[in-house]
Amino acid sequence: MKNFFDFLVSYSKRYGFIFPSNEIYGGINAVYDYGQYGVELKNNIKKYWWESMTQVHENIIGMDSSILTDINVWKASGHLKKFNELLIDNKDSKKRYRPDILIENYVKKNFSKNLEKKNKILSRLYYSLNKKDFLDIKKLINQLQISDPDNGSKNWTNIHFFNMMFKIKYIENLFLRPETAQNIYCNFNNIKKSNRINIPFGVAQIGKSFRNEIVARQFLFRLREFEQMEMQFFISPKKEEENKWYNYWKKMRLKWHLELNLGKDKYKLYNHQNLAHYANLGVDIQFKFPFGFKELEGIHSRRDFDLKQHEVFSKKKLRIVENKNNYRPYVIETSLGLDRMFLSVLSSTLSKEKLENGNDRIILKLPFYLSPVKAAIFPLVNKNELSKLAKKIFNDLKIEYKVEYDSKSSIGKLYRRQDAIGTPLCFTVDYETINTNTVTVRYRDSMKQERIHIKKISKKIEEITSMKNILKNISSNID
Ligand code: GAP
Repeated sequence: MKNFFDFLVSYSKRYGFIFPSNEIYGGINAVYDYGQYGVELKNNIKKYWWESMTQVHENIIGMDSSILTDINVWKASGHLKKFNELLIDNKDSKKRYRPDILIENYVKKNFSKNLEKKNKILSRLYYSLNKKDFLDIKKLINQLQISDPDNGSKNWTNIHFFNMMFKIKYIENLFLRPETAQNIYCNFNNIKKSNRINIPFGVAQIGKSFRNEIVARQFLFRLREFEQMEMQFFISPKKEEENKWYNYWKKMRLKWHLELNLGKDKYKLYNHQNLAHYANLGVDIQFKFPFGFKELEGIHSRRDFDLKQHEVFSKKKLRIVENKNNYRPYVIETSLGLDRMFLSVLSSTLSKEKLENGNDRIILKLPFYLSPVKAAIFPLVNKNELSKLAKKIFNDLKIEYKVEYDSKSSIGKLYRRQDAIGTPLCFTVDYETINTNTVTVRYRDSMKQERIHIKKISKKIEEITSMKNILKNISSNID
């Protein structure tokens, strides 16, 4: 797995998916840039999420709010006081760790077969976390003789809290948001007044969030600057409605992931032991990343925690008015990290395959509608007549699809490159094209080839790469 992970990181850079940010100056820890194919894949994931939310659901609207946020928003939301992580430093290595993760990793490594011992240690950890008994957590680290994974030292500091929000240093009272949700709550009255929408309704948003993560490792998994795709669903404030919509969104979100066909066994639901300060119910959709099952998406019932807090702090009413009654709605939230989603897709579709002739090919078996490039067009040889014709086909297609024209290598090498970036279809113009107006189409996964008429190319791309069918499947599950 370590080998695969190293391969994934170097592949991502070599093929223009992910670059370390500011690399020429040494890079920034846990901040990455998306290269030419990375940004296309990311945009396609966004499109799948956005259209599943705002097009397929007639009662979900979109918005895009500011990243800079007033301190009062975070006072009200509780993030200023409660959005903290535990921190422990190793005095010798000068490295920082989350003590709960140190203990969890230690237990996983040493007691994976001794369930009784494993559960005993983890129960004590979670009990002490709940009670905020940091002395006991430190005691546990000492008793288990946990050492720094980096240099083996057991010379630990005491455990303390660390707020994860980024404050803007030179502008008073502004923070970079650590979640996109709050500006939807702050805009509640604007949204209500500008839309003829009734409860239940949702507001979806995709945007950057920032967290000063202590343990920012594992590539795109835990970043300091990342993107979230969040949806706040406003419902009637009743327990039955809360259960109904919480279960509905749990089911819908899992369905959305499963439609990608990355493997049913790659997903697990995990009910939270330690709920976030704003949540009444919480479940994670976990994904089998190369380093094990980890949280991909969170679904929470936030009830009216946030609207109530904003009412207190802003002194504005944030309510639904119905037949002379007014009430604060409950909220069910779905929150998916876009970069984590990107990592889940990339890591589970990338592989090396042995070919019949003994050579290897790198192949990215992306769902076709997510592929950065939908089709590539090549001339069999880079001769004027063939390349002119291939270029014309490319120019006609590029208005509708993200396609590539390439003539710089032999046809075998051109196929290999497109396989490696996940392109579903390659069309080759050869001498027969001149007489018959047909090209060969070559399929990524089977590598099979057939001839089709030039006029049918566009329809073929549409048939294979369109998102329509998958959106129809999502739509068929809406009550
Ligand atoms: N609004 C609720 C909220 O932010 P969260 O569980 O803290 O809940 C939601 O985050 C999702 O955002 C996570 O499931 C994960 O996919 C993503 N996420 C959170 N922190 C992240 C980080 N440091 N780097 C990358 N993605 C992150």
